Amino acid sequence: MNMQTDLAAAEARPPRAAVNETTEMATETTLLNPRFYTTDFDEMDRIDVTPVRAEWDKLIASMKSDPNRSHFKKTDAWNETDWENMDPELRKELIDFMVSSLTAEFSGCVLYKEMKRRGNNPDICELFNYMARDEARHAGFINDALREAGIGVNLGFLTKAKKYTYFRPKFIYYATYLSEKIGYARYITIYRHLERNPEFFIHPIFRWFEQWCNDEFSHGEAFALLMKTDPRLTSGINVYWIRFFLVAVFATMCVRDHARPAFHKALGLDIEWYDREVLRKTSEISKQIFPIEIDLENPRWERGLLRLRRALGDMDAARARGGIGGAIGKAFAGARAGLVFAGLYLIPVKRNAVPENPRLEPAY
Ligand SMILES: [Fe+2]
Ligand SMILES: [Fe+2]
Repeated sequence: MNMQTDLAAAEARPPRAAVNETTEMATETTLLNPRFYTTDFDEMDRIDVTPVRAEWDKLIASMKSDPNRSHFKKTDAWNETDWENMDPELRKELIDFMVSSLTAEFSGCVLYKEMKRRGNNPDICELFNYMARDEARHAGFINDALREAGIGVNLGFLTKAKKYTYFRPKFIYYATYLSEKIGYARYITIYRHLERNPEFFIHPIFRWFEQWCNDEFSHGEAFALLMKTDPRLTSGINVYWIRFFLVAVFATMCVRDHARPAFHKALGLDIEWYDREVLRKTSEISKQIFPIEIDLENPRWERGLLRLRRALGDMDAARARGGIGGAIGKAFAGARAGLVFAGLYLIPVKRNAVPENPRLEPAY
């Protein structure tokens, strides 16, 4: 390799040595970590919002007014966190929660900014501009909190080094709509719980969640309107895709939350209750646009989630064991997880009568 190609390769791949542990965590791609997405931006740019124009203009006007303009600033309510003397398990899980939230927020920022940059459609560009603005603020605010602990994530590195997953635009709508709405449901559920039980405020950032989650709510509203522009997106074969994304997004959240027992205990949150609550809210909201919902009351649902957690746990344990035995164990556990997921997918769904006008306001 000559010097020039050496240099080109070094530029394409930022040096890992300069990167801290939390940046490494955020960069890692696993089944359960938040991902970065890319899509067919030209196809998205061709969306015509005429069928939802009245509701669209109202939503854009409220985003333009930027109600959270001055929200993401530290105030006197921001008290110092004693990271040094924190229980090590809690510290590890709180960092994991923050890094995972930061990655999810920043993933939105990267995708929305790219859509804005590549698009020519003024409606689409305006929307994605506002959403990228919000996500940049959210990611920046979490990163400030991490920096206070001396473990800020290098977002420039992350943008370059993280693997991007390609999704067709319709899959972006289903996945992103759901992650915005589930994000809203998670933030508001944590906030309301802490409001009732202030002794569990383990970190000041949770005090910002109430207004924060309204941004996520309106991002979700935008995707609901985008899906409403074309009835084919929520009918026919696509209903099977919606079902797939509902199961995948819901199950991923439950598995991921159960990996943080010390964090939830410190928040005074029962994980089972919390997950049930978040899924119930998200499912209720998603009736605004999805013609089906998962039957969360079916005993097969929670039983399946438990089995999925066990199978994925066994997969991790086998991976950690390594060697041929580990590889075989991992393959078997992986196959088991696949079967359990199929079982969750096959639970009969409930049908919804989708309203003519999808718009909702945050109500929890
Ligand atoms: Fe966000
Ligand atoms: Fe968002």
